[in-house]
Amino acid sequence: MSQPPLNPELARRQAQHILYTWTAQASASPLPIAGGEGACFTDHAGERWFDFESQVFNCNLGHGDQRVIAAIKRQADELACAHPAAVFEAKARLGELLAEVTPGDMSHAFLCLSGSEAVENAYKIARMVTGRKKVIARRRSYHGASMGALSLTGDERRLPFEPGLWGVLRAEDPYCHRCPFQLERATCKMQCATHIEHIIKMEGPDQIAALFAEGLTGSNGGFVPPDGYWQTLRALCDRYGILLVADEVFSGFGRTGEWFAVDHWGVVPDLMTMAKGITSGYAPLGAVMMRPHIAEHFQKNTLWCGLTSYAHPISCAAAVATIEAYRESDLIGNAARQGAHLAARLRALEAEPWCGEGRCLGLFGTLEFADDVPPGFGDRLKAGLRARRVHALYKELKLFITPPLCVTREQLDEGLARCLDAIREAL
Ligand SMILES: Cc1ncc(COP(=O)(O)O)c(C=O)c1O
Repeated sequence: MSQPPLNPELARRQAQHILYTWTAQASASPLPIAGGEGACFTDHAGERWFDFESQVFNCNLGHGDQRVIAAIKRQADELACAHPAAVFEAKARLGELLAEVTPGDMSHAFLCLSGSEAVENAYKIARMVTGRKKVIARRRSYHGASMGALSLTGDERRLPFEPGLWGVLRAEDPYCHRCPFQLERATCKMQCATHIEHIIKMEGPDQIAALFAEGLTGSNGGFVPPDGYWQTLRALCDRYGILLVADEVFSGFGRTGEWFAVDHWGVVPDLMTMAKGITSGYAPLGAVMMRPHIAEHFQKNTLWCGLTSYAHPISCAAAVATIEAYRESDLIGNAARQGAHLAARLRALEAEPWCGEGRCLGLFGTLEFADDVPPGFGDRLKAGLRARRVHALYKELKLFITPPLCVTREQLDEGLARCLDAIREAL
């Protein structure tokens, strides 16, 4: 198969004035997307691609969902622009829906435009509520591209901007396949969670505002934490009066086969950040969801947070329609069912010499390759995937399989077959 067709004149015009993200411009990989339906999108030549990255892990609903498109059009006709303090139906309904789908007694939302802004505001809220300044975040994490969120981020995207915000303490990750403590699952006593108590004690429990952790680590590895991990984080935070913040920007809205990853372990965080799947990428929106004891603080104290496009009407309408569509089409259930199939397929690949681990929760699958794949493997794999019209992220020996939640078993199997072809060719 050949490399994908891209409208060359359009690509040239665009590159003259618009930058690509997270890359030197000369090395950018333009994505030829013209439209789409369900788990697939089409390129400029009308060829169909499997969207195994759900665009950028946000298009959980799938492409071309007419329910959301119609809601956006209706909202644009009715009220397209509104003051942050405006009162309107889509905003009120979104609040009700978020309170319904988030865990436990989470009750109030602060709305913004992206995951980074959600993390940024959760950080500020945790500091305002506790009066403490330090925070704990994990080493292999990504929390966003703005300076506060980047300071929490552990991965290499933080490095060009150091020193970031003061007071970020680093904890290790539940990366069982390459345990940071070099322990084995059966006997490790979950040191990845318990060592955090040592950090808290050494740094002064009364100085630490919050512990930030991705519900399920996103683009750094899809680590499925052991049962009991999240409960241990909850217990530690309760013991020392630290707020537990689950960053569900990536793992929320059904990605793992539950509404939010923490639901797998019955844990209710104090604050939860979300974006991406909240509108499935049909409009920009982020949110910080909080429990009543956090919201209560701001009854008398000023909430020193805000933005011009707070609760943007188009974004609110898109989110309401998206959440209702997840429910109407039982997409979270489909993610769990198709996810069980994906998990079995990935686990079976562990018999291959090139496979380090196949891990999966819901429709968040990660194929981690062995250390001894040949030089140039990654670049060849990326080219092979594009040539086979599969849009999927490969990063640091990991291939992420994260299709829209509406994916069918046939699409999953066909897409996986193309991935396996590309892997074998790249070896
Ligand atoms: C866990 C997590 N938090 C925050 C963000 C930042 O979200 P955004 O890119 O919408 O600013 C991301 C983005 O990938 C993410 O995966």
